[in-house]
Amino acid sequence: MAADDVIKAWDQADPTAIHPLRNVSEDAYWESGRGQAEMLATVIPDGAKVMDFGCGDGRVAIPMAAHGFEVTAVDASQNMLDRLTDRAPDVTTVQADADGIAGHLGRRRMDAVYSLAVLIHHSYQDCLHIISKLRAATKLGGILVLDWPVSETPTEADSWIGVTTWSPQQQADACAAIGLEPVDSDLPWGVYRAVKAGS
Ligand SMILES: C[S@@+](CC[C@H](N)C(=O)[O-])C[C@H]1O[C@@H](n2cnc3c(N)ncnc32)[C@H](O)[C@@H]1O
Repeated sequence: MAADDVIKAWDQADPTAIHPLRNVSEDAYWESGRGQAEMLATVIPDGAKVMDFGCGDGRVAIPMAAHGFEVTAVDASQNMLDRLTDRAPDVTTVQADADGIAGHLGRRRMDAVYSLAVLIHHSYQDCLHIISKLRAATKLGGILVLDWPVSETPTEADSWIGVTTWSPQQQADACAAIGLEPVDSDLPWGVYRAVKAGS
C-alpha cells in the first residue's frame, strides 16, 4: 500500500485502532504508553531532544514529555495531533510525513528519534524511505528506536493495518546503506546508533 493511502486511512481511523488495549480501557491504553516511555528512557539520555514519528494521539509522546524529554511529536494526521493537543497542550506537534521533517527541523538534529507501530504498516520501499529520513533527522551518534520487526518468513503488509516484517539480511543491508549501527538492548524494538552510511 502506498504511504499516502496508509496516512489517509489512519487520519480517518477510529482511535481504538491505535492499540488493542484501547478496547480494554482508556486507562490500560495510557498505562501502556507510560510503560513504553519507561523502556525508551533506558536507552535515550535524560533530557534529550526526541522526535516521536507517527505519534498518534500521544500515547507515548505525552509520558515522554512528562519524563523530562524535549519531545517533538510528528504525525501526518492532524486529527491525531488535535487529540494529542487536547490532552497535552504543551507538547510540540508537527503535522508532517517523513518528507516534511527536514523542512520543519532546518539545520537542527534530534538526539533521538523513535517510531512505534508506524513502519510496520508500510511497504519495504516506503519503510526504507521513512527510515532514511528519520536517520537524517538524527545527529551523528544519536539513538533511533524503531519498531521494525524481523521474521523467518518476511512479508509485506497488504493493508493499512497489516504488518510488514523483514529478514535479518534485509535489515543488515538497510542499516549499512542508511547509516545505522545496531545497539544491544532488552527493548522489544530495534535500537540503533546513527553512524555514517557505509561504515
Ligand atoms: C498505529 S498508530 C501508532 C501511534 C503511536 N506511535 C503509538 O504507538 O501509540 C500509527 C500512527 O502513525 C501515523 N503515520 C502512519 N504513517 C505515517 C507516515 N508515513 N508519516 C507520518 N505519520 C504516519 C498515523 O497517522 C498514526 O497516527
